[in-house]
Amino acid sequence: MPADAVAMSEVDRQSWPTSLATSVEGFRSRIEAFPSGQLVADSDGRIVGAAGAQRVTRAFFNAHIRDYDLVTDSDRFTASHDSHGEIYQLIGVGVAPEFRGGRLGRQLVDRQIAYARSLAGIERIMGFTRPAGFRKHQQLSIDQYVALRDSNGRHVDPVLSFHVSAGAQILSVHPGFRPNDEQSGGYGVLIEYALYDDVT
Ligand SMILES: CC(C)(COP(=O)(O)OP(=O)(O)OC[C@H]1O[C@@H](n2cnc3c(N)ncnc32)[C@H](O)[C@@H]1OP(=O)(O)O)[C@@H](O)C(=O)NCCC(=O)NCCS
Repeated sequence: MPADAVAMSEVDRQSWPTSLATSVEGFRSRIEAFPSGQLVADSDGRIVGAAGAQRVTRAFFNAHIRDYDLVTDSDRFTASHDSHGEIYQLIGVGVAPEFRGGRLGRQLVDRQIAYARSLAGIERIMGFTRPAGFRKHQQLSIDQYVALRDSNGRHVDPVLSFHVSAGAQILSVHPGFRPNDEQSGGYGVLIEYALYDDVT
């Protein structure tokens, strides 16, 4: 609900570098554009996590895939969200630092995926994520970094690990996607979650 925008912005402020955090106004616009796609997690009545999403048409997505501000209408979703869009785009999951590691982030994204699967007309569930640890590995190219796994076979990058360990596929790497994301070198990594549960 719109009143949650202040608390959602505070979670974002604690989750992202300042230049990437979504403002209170940004969250208000997102909630206005697509209320059912903006999810929060609370603990004892306090909002401690948030996960956003919008629906976009394939044509819009393909036209704006190179630029975070274009594909999200500068974080607001006002001009980018389309209630008939075929792509369910996950945008930004954050959990307050003291609540991390308790599966809130996973539950938020899982709820987004379940909701996307329940909607008529959705063909793909996608998102741009950030290779947040890239700048700490200056010796590697972005492709080497995105492929880098630890001895347990998990991605070294924490955010990629978060998504891939839950079944997301990495589709492509986009330079200059978010130039002010210094930690990620400006790169965006396009990921996709399956539209259907595995049928065995
Ligand atoms: C990424 C983030 C949302 C994860 O939330 P969380 O509640 O701590 O994560 P969970 O407890 O649900 O963990 C789910 C899985 O991700 C893994 N994971 C979470 N954080 C991780 C990290 N820093 N490094 C490696 N793996 C991590 C967990 O080990 C767990 O794996 P498992 O399912 O195999 O057990 C949280 O760390 C955060 O807010 N980060 C800052 C903002 C950000 O970068 N958001 C992602 C942008 S798309």
